[in-house]
Amino acid sequence: MPLPPLTPEDILEKIAGLHPDLTVLGPEVLRSRHPGEHPDNFAGGVMAQPSSTEAAATLVRWCRENDVAIVPQGGLTGLVGGNVSHAGEVILSSSRLNRIVSVHADEMTVEVEAGVALEALQQALLPLGLTTGIDLGSRGTATVGGMVSTNAGGILAFRNGVIRHQVLGIEAVLPSGEVYSDMTRVVKVSAGPDLKHLFIGGEGAFGFVTKIVLKLEPIRPHRATAFVGVGDAASALAVIRKFRSRSGILLEGAELMWPRYIRDHAALKGFDLSWLEGEDTAALLLSVSAESEETALTALEEELETLWEPVGIKGAILAQSLDQARKFWDIREDSGFYYAEIPNAPSFDISVPPSYLDTYVAGVAERLKAIDESYDFYVYGHIADGNLHLTLKKPGPLPESELLAVEGAIYSGVQAAGGSFSAEHGVGLEKRHAYEANVPKAKRDLARLIKQAIDPQGLFNPGKVPF
Ligand code: LAC
Ligand code: ZN
Repeated sequence: MPLPPLTPEDILEKIAGLHPDLTVLGPEVLRSRHPGEHPDNFAGGVMAQPSSTEAAATLVRWCRENDVAIVPQGGLTGLVGGNVSHAGEVILSSSRLNRIVSVHADEMTVEVEAGVALEALQQALLPLGLTTGIDLGSRGTATVGGMVSTNAGGILAFRNGVIRHQVLGIEAVLPSGEVYSDMTRVVKVSAGPDLKHLFIGGEGAFGFVTKIVLKLEPIRPHRATAFVGVGDAASALAVIRKFRSRSGILLEGAELMWPRYIRDHAALKGFDLSWLEGEDTAALLLSVSAESEETALTALEEELETLWEPVGIKGAILAQSLDQARKFWDIREDSGFYYAEIPNAPSFDISVPPSYLDTYVAGVAERLKAIDESYDFYVYGHIADGNLHLTLKKPGPLPESELLAVEGAIYSGVQAAGGSFSAEHGVGLEKRHAYEANVPKAKRDLARLIKQAIDPQGLFNPGKVPF
């Protein structure tokens, strides 16, 4: 007869003394902590916080012997429910694996533990004139390990690729309790399949990432930031192309907000839009960096002037101070502003080839209107790499049939165009149906085969991405 499942209290008692580097928190403590982006992240009630790889491996071996499932957690900024836990499972948190192990400034690489927050790493690298090649709005809380697990993208992906392209080495605890150690510090390795990529975007299903070696890049200390009004994504892309090809500067961000988004958010924040001509104009946020402030500012001014007529720019405004630049960026990065009014609104994160963006958005509008004439939606995103975030302006959760219809409208044509139904947020719980519906069967079958080989008991992050 199978034994009854262990309660959180049973688990807490049994794992408490497993290893000197293991701290364990129970339901009472967890109830007093913020669960992050999903209210059920701490529903499991027991959190193990190893401060060493050995402690993490010991915990995993205990879970394996006792058939207890593991939910890996980082900074809890995930947006698709990939960190949700249930009673009877152990949360395995990277919060005490938070050391920057070594910076190799000359080689431009860094070795970090998984729980280091992105911004903490960026701050530590700043005095060395270095930075991470990846950046995102949740930098203050998102951990490098969590970013690896969802293959995070963010605002620099158009230039440097996503985090998959920044990771040189990985250490992870496998579901067997063995440590997979591949702390490579070089770019070139031509020695068989590169298995670390299983953990990148693996959403904790193949192991628990404990350490990472990342590539770094030099930081250009001075920046200039502008908002530019454009009629469509094609115009925005023409502006972006010009800035990418200008010498002496680097484009540090190019984010487009479609009219509904910029209008509603500016109204909420009291942000002046008098410079933006026309109700149907989108706002392109641009930041460039250079060796001097003057070079950065001059580049923005000169290029925008040259582009004004040919592109049909509909107004522009330059940030006059760092504080203003931060306010510009807040309009883009505080993208959850709408949830106060439309809680649980259905949100999507797709990518399409950039040249297809306008056709895609027009198609979505048409398909959504065909479902319900009153539908309205927000669109904004990292357009230089074709990644859009879309949110239906309606509180959720929607009834299942309505959600399926909306998903159909959003995902239609995405895969065929060479894009993805999930660009940078992962699959987690919320995009499971989309995963089944959009990922080719042969690829899903292969992922499942690998999962079965590595985690035959199905203990790592069960019920999430359906590997
Ligand atoms: C952003 C998050 C939602 O780009 O990915 O704001
Ligand atoms: Zn994003």
